[in-house]
Amino acid sequence: MSQKKPHLNLVVIGHIDHGKSTLMGRLLYEIGAVDPRLIQQYEEEAKKIGKETFKYAWVLDRLKEERERGITIDLGFYKFETPKYFFTLIDAPGHRDFVKNMITGASQADVALLVVSAKEGEFEAGISPAGQTREHVFLAKTMGIDQLLVAVNKMDTVNYSQQRYEEIKTQLSRLLRIVGYKPEEILFVPTSAWEGVNVSKRSPDKTPWYNGPCLYEAFDYFKEPPRPIDKPLRIPIQDVYSIKGVGTVPVGRVETGVLRVGDKVIINPPKVIGEVKSIETHHTPLQEAIPGDNIGFNVKGVEKSQIRRGDVAGHPDNPPTVAEEFVGRIFVIYHPTAIAAGYTPVLHIHTATVPVTFAELIHKLDPRTGSVQEENPQYIKQGDSAVVRFKPRKPVVVEKFSEIPQLGRFAIRDSGRTIAAGVVIDVKKAEGY
Ligand code: GTP
Ligand code: MG
Repeated sequence: MSQKKPHLNLVVIGHIDHGKSTLMGRLLYEIGAVDPRLIQQYEEEAKKIGKETFKYAWVLDRLKEERERGITIDLGFYKFETPKYFFTLIDAPGHRDFVKNMITGASQADVALLVVSAKEGEFEAGISPAGQTREHVFLAKTMGIDQLLVAVNKMDTVNYSQQRYEEIKTQLSRLLRIVGYKPEEILFVPTSAWEGVNVSKRSPDKTPWYNGPCLYEAFDYFKEPPRPIDKPLRIPIQDVYSIKGVGTVPVGRVETGVLRVGDKVIINPPKVIGEVKSIETHHTPLQEAIPGDNIGFNVKGVEKSQIRRGDVAGHPDNPPTVAEEFVGRIFVIYHPTAIAAGYTPVLHIHTATVPVTFAELIHKLDPRTGSVQEENPQYIKQGDSAVVRFKPRKPVVVEKFSEIPQLGRFAIRDSGRTIAAGVVIDVKKAEGY
């Protein structure tokens, strides 16, 4: 990779079948990042199993099961560049059984492309209370993705109707505003992945009423995200390897601070200390790693068995905070009945997943103004905002959103559904840390 262009991790999100993989496969094909012969080969193979409309999606859907079922299951990665940036594309699944994989993808991303289908009924399914357009938008914001781009896809199915495009833009803007995005700062590109409209080139013949950028151009409207190098070091661990001749190598993304070769690091909650012997990113050695870098780092004095996904590395003079309890401000995205104190679903925060109890419902908030609506409510329901005291059932690193936003946002899930998303407003440190 050239050193000149900045690097952005882009996650592609949205409801099942809205065309995420097809749109990105088509774009990669049009800009020459994928060999045309490969698309031809996919077309032939896809035809044999009656899935010819998925030939572009196969660029990203590589698993046998994905191709047979015509859905994305696991994250698909691909590299491409624009005049301004190097992108790592992370294609997420829309199917609601695989939201967990979408969260993992979002946790690695700087920016997101939301794909919504303009097709009659499909857009509506996505933004319905159980739809994944809605759920993914909440999760993206929660996972710290501040910049969003929208593709209003499958415009061919509505005859490139400007009225349909405007209707979708209006409805989606309302949802985006509730979640905390500023819709007036977001680009909405009308596309057809299938017909190649406004993908890598503007298509005024099909959408004469639209004079904005095509998708490929729109990627360069993203702003370079801030790199918080002056904050304490935090690296949530995604995986740990034990490499012959090297030793223990945790892998993760530097969220804040700077890691240098020779540094002493502490990994919490297990509270193990080691010394950094080497750092690398995409097989290139580094002397120091900064926020946004996805790295593997070799630590001396730490065994693979002592640490795991969800732990966080920092410097010993300012170690990652392990929470006894924390207070969060949440929004209830989905719940079939009502939530009362004592409820124990699962907390997803940075790369960690632990059971968590709703210990106290402190107050219910007016979702529009944020002012207190009710003290100590008996229960909270779908659509409510609330301030809640949480008790993790296992040690976990939690930071205040105001200090380290990247480690201060979380999602609450239960039985494969996202129940709530929120931010941490206060943390009570666990004893011994
Ligand atoms: P998941 O990853 O499973 O959530 O789906 P996805 O959003 O990646 O959708 P995918 O790309 O797999 O496309 C689903 C179907 O929609 C395929 O049959 C595509 O050919 C079709 N499709 C995608 N984009 C368009 C489009 O612009 N127009 C039309 N007519 N069909 C499209
Ligand atoms: Mg897909």
